Amino acid sequence: MQLNNLIDLDQLSLAEIDELIHLANKIRSNPWAYRESCRGKIMATLFYEPSTRTKMSFQTAMYRLGGEVIGFDNPENSSVSKGESLKDTITVVSGYADLIVMRNPMEGAATAATLYSKSPIINAGDGGHLHPTQTLTDLVTLYNEKGRLDHLCIGLCGDLKNGRTVHSLIKSMTRYEGNTFVLISTEELALPQYVKDVMDAAGCRYRELTNLSDAVPKLDVLYMTRIQRERFASAERYEEQKGVFVLDSAKLRYAKKDLKILHPLPRVDEITVDIDDDERAKYFDQTVYGMYARMALIFTVLQNAAIPAKKKTLHSTHPYQCSNPKCITQTERYLPRLFKEAGDMLECRYCDGRTLI
Ligand code: CP
Repeated sequence: MQLNNLIDLDQLSLAEIDELIHLANKIRSNPWAYRESCRGKIMATLFYEPSTRTKMSFQTAMYRLGGEVIGFDNPENSSVSKGESLKDTITVVSGYADLIVMRNPMEGAATAATLYSKSPIINAGDGGHLHPTQTLTDLVTLYNEKGRLDHLCIGLCGDLKNGRTVHSLIKSMTRYEGNTFVLISTEELALPQYVKDVMDAAGCRYRELTNLSDAVPKLDVLYMTRIQRERFASAERYEEQKGVFVLDSAKLRYAKKDLKILHPLPRVDEITVDIDDDERAKYFDQTVYGMYARMALIFTVLQNAAIPAKKKTLHSTHPYQCSNPKCITQTERYLPRLFKEAGDMLECRYCDGRTLI
């Protein structure tokens, strides 16, 4: 498989995803065999937003493959704090590192980075948009814990509006046959319409509920998420939403024996700690699967990447500005404005946001 950049898991075919899952399992069963496979390679982790799992599992993955790691985990400690643009940071770092893993609060930032990078870019989360390596982690977890990725009834609960892991996971699971979804959230934090459009286009059945207890008995998988305080416009708005959904042992009383409970973590208060000892709780195992998933990804990208040495300059396709206030083009104003036409709308190629012409 040739993989230059990973921005969205949807860019991979199901066969390619399957290949990554199997490679992750192969590495997991014999990590020693891969301990020198990235010797001499350098990976940069550029984290403009906080992270524990994604950053450290990528770093651990690279060390376990024999490679080295550079980067920053707080832009305040880099020249970003002096006003350096994303373009300049990426141009410079891609001269140092063979691979860049980046997380940025602006949607479409990873796509923007690919315009200037001489090294492959892996999207480790771009605002509320996508988080493909978490999804790969989730798929490796589900494959190992459920034995299949199809014909599952998947409940997703919490902040379905801002949860990029939820958006990425639904988009991926609609590609497998027979999956159905139960969306459990308040009205304010409901799943965005564009993700529902993806389910509709795939012919997947879904229900929207506001009560977690009602949903639990039918589920094969329950994917809990935290309410994302950092994505709210004000503290008051966050206070209205926090603590609405809490998974506790009472709610699990009528759950299936082979239910699997996943959570991308970090957890705040949406799963009580006594659930951690329930054999259906798989969220800490999920973090370990994530390291093997990222080892498989780094190995694959560094074995086969073919990034052109000289990047072609792209020019704006339209004169309009993307209307998404969280789009990377709002802060990095030099970026060419790239859209796909979708009826009377323009779809931004960075953030997928739609703008009325
Ligand atoms: N799941 C996840 O993205 O966790 P971190 O924010 O700690 O990386």
